[in-house]
Amino acid sequence: MSETVLRVKDLRTQFALDDGVVKAVDGVDLEIGRGEVLAVVGESGCGKSVMARSILRLVDKPGRITGGEIWVRDPAGGGLVDLVPADVRTVRQVRGKRIAMVFQEPMTSMSPMHTLGNQIGEAILLHERVTKAEARERTIELLGRVGIPAPERRVDAYPFQMSGGMLQRAMIAMALSCNPELLIADEPTTALDTTTQAQILELLDSLRRDLGMAVMLITHDLGVAARLADRIAVMYLGSVVEHGDTASVFRAPRHPYTKALLGSVPKLGSGSRARLTPVRGMVPHAYQRPTGCPFHPRCEEFMAGRCEVTVPRPTAGPEPGREVRCLLYEDGGGSHKNAGLSKAGDSAGDGTGDSEGDA
Ligand SMILES: Nc1ncnc2c1ncn2[C@@H]1O[C@H](COP(=O)(O)OP(=O)(O)O)[C@@H](O)[C@H]1O
Ligand code: SF4
Ligand SMILES: [Mg+2]
Repeated sequence: MSETVLRVKDLRTQFALDDGVVKAVDGVDLEIGRGEVLAVVGESGCGKSVMARSILRLVDKPGRITGGEIWVRDPAGGGLVDLVPADVRTVRQVRGKRIAMVFQEPMTSMSPMHTLGNQIGEAILLHERVTKAEARERTIELLGRVGIPAPERRVDAYPFQMSGGMLQRAMIAMALSCNPELLIADEPTTALDTTTQAQILELLDSLRRDLGMAVMLITHDLGVAARLADRIAVMYLGSVVEHGDTASVFRAPRHPYTKALLGSVPKLGSGSRARLTPVRGMVPHAYQRPTGCPFHPRCEEFMAGRCEVTVPRPTAGPEPGREVRCLLYEDGGGSHKNAGLSKAGDSAGDGTGDSEGDA
């Protein structure tokens, strides 16, 4: 992999609420290299947003990072710095120079009271030693860069005067104001119509190409992930259950959750886009985290006596850079059945009967 811009190790973020503890992020490992696009996919409630906000230390109270490491390039120069124990100043510098984030709802991160020029200009003045006039010039340049027509006029527009797509472009312009080496985009197109979605994704792709910017693209749309991402990380209940390069994950998914997600998505490169089809059952309530493998109540390849008992560890292979968290692939894994060979969509629900003979 090219030079690392982000390395997350065993990240844990919890919300201590009156009724119990929500383990929103529960041992996430991932890494992004310079100029690389990583798609993070998974159903709603799997911890994607909390993970992303944790990276920038933006978790809402009572949420708290309870463990793990978040290594980014030190804004003070030199090597990497871990943001988990870092002081506020370092975290601010990282947000100003290294990593920027755009959210699903552009309106929630913009002030309705100020023009685009004011808001983006402020961001520029915060990060760079420039005059107000220069900040305005740079704002116009950025608005043009993200494809906003007539930027020299739009710079004086208020958010309510703009369409959702134009606002999301403006948000991306604001994110670019600090020349980030990594842009975290949390479902950036979910609130937009299909045509605008495609344009925003094309914009993200061009930023990666032209500026060499890495992108963490959080999406529940596997078609989007297939088109844009070099690598994919599949999240389920707070951890990455499978990751690897996009082509190999799509060609030969290993984790039963990935298989279920991919089940009815059109083939890679077919050009059509599909939303995730529902996986059997539902993501469990945050307080009712299953024992053993968290996916076991919904798994088509469940092995009784093992899956509800043992927490799977990451297993590497078959290609370099691939990893899966499933007991089928651990030593001795699913040897009592042809688990590793079963194809997506196979009904492997007979695993329960099989394993009765194991006891
Ligand atoms: N502010 C919060 N307070 C309590 N629980 C939260 C909060 N934000 C998120 N969660 C919980 O954390 C889990 C992960 O949520 P989230 O990261 O938003 O999922 P995703 O982005 O994958 O849809 C969910 O169970 C959610 O209910
Ligand atoms: S460990 Fe068991 S329950 Fe979990 S995904 Fe693998 S086969 Fe399914
Ligand atoms: Mg989310």
